[in-house]
Amino acid sequence: MLSKANIPTLGMWETPFYFYDLDLLDRTLSACKQALDRYGYSAHFALKANAESRILDRIREAGFGADCVSGNEVALALRHQFEPQKIVFAGVGKSDREIRIALDAGIFSFNCESIPEMEVIAALAASMGTTARIALRINPDVDAHTHHYISTGKKENKFGISPWMFEDALTIIRNNPSLVLIGLHFHIGSQITDLSVFGTLCKRVNELQQWFVDRGMQLPHLNLGGGLGINYQNPELAPIPDFTTWFEQVHQHLQPLPGQQIHFEPGRSIVAQCGHLITRVLYIKEGLESRFMILDAGMNDLIRPALYQARHRIENISAQLRNATQDECLSYEVVGPVCESSDLWENSALLPKTLRGDLIAIHSAGAYGQVMGMRYNQRDLAPAHYSDEL
Ligand code: LLP
Repeated sequence: MLSKANIPTLGMWETPFYFYDLDLLDRTLSACKQALDRYGYSAHFALKANAESRILDRIREAGFGADCVSGNEVALALRHQFEPQKIVFAGVGKSDREIRIALDAGIFSFNCESIPEMEVIAALAASMGTTARIALRINPDVDAHTHHYISTGKKENKFGISPWMFEDALTIIRNNPSLVLIGLHFHIGSQITDLSVFGTLCKRVNELQQWFVDRGMQLPHLNLGGGLGINYQNPELAPIPDFTTWFEQVHQHLQPLPGQQIHFEPGRSIVAQCGHLITRVLYIKEGLESRFMILDAGMNDLIRPALYQARHRIENISAQLRNATQDECLSYEVVGPVCESSDLWENSALLPKTLRGDLIAIHSAGAYGQVMGMRYNQRDLAPAHYSDEL
């Protein structure tokens, strides 16, 4: 969709902006759905990855539920007609207000992350004369082999309930008729590229759920979270992530209970590759040691490089129109305009000779991009444009 023919139209829109390829989104959704259907699995899209209206509508139309981590995300999912019985709600810090929103809506499940949270949900549900379906989010102490900021399943992480607390959790469930335990939930991290990690998780899940079975608990649902990684280095080689291997790993290693429904919460894998941040070169500035390429998009538009040292592929799409060739490449230190030295896109990017005004595409920006945008330096939030506007 970022073909030569489209570059003049892209150039008419004020930069920076997010550009979404809806055709790739649709193909990704159907690939995921097909891989899920093979085993009868179901999925809830993690709204935290992208909350654009048009994207959410498409995801709902494709049959996905919603994975939310705040009351406002639950409300957003409801506004986009996600059925309450397809909404799950996780998060270590659910406020009373947020819990009430979800109870009012009658969501499918609260993924509970602590004993005190379970007590509060029980009390609020009882006071509202209703019941809360809950799943225990368990911290399985499994290493996701990913960046430590996006690793969530190790015992030192703040997420989930550890096995030594199971007894207390069970006591609360038994003492509170307003809580209905429907299953267990796991999410060990994000941008997982070693897919054998999911096999390791499943083996641990088998052990952990046996504890509940031994105590006569019914667990009709098992939610294994999200986490499938994408190819940031060469997005064009793998525009659609490997859903097949993810679910194969699970099918091979998980021992579900009879009739148990298996759920997933993909975020990044659904939306990352269909989104690009389009920006313009403001200046080429010769420094003492580097040649700076200063873009009009910065860390406030896409914070991943500053926050996780993440690298997104950078492409000078205007150079394509000039037919600039690879052997004319120069090394640039690509930076944004924000007053922070961490506002750095890439240290030494090899790019065709670049001119002021050139359009640059920062790829794989559809997940945790626009949604993490902020107004630092009083900058405007980058808007969205879609492939069907071309
Ligand atoms: N379920 C739960 C409970 C989660 O916490 C997350 C992500 C997901 C599902 C979706 O995971 P995914 O399929 O997208 O990996 N801002 C970071 C990523 C933070 C992920 C937080 N939790 C980044 O830009 O890399």
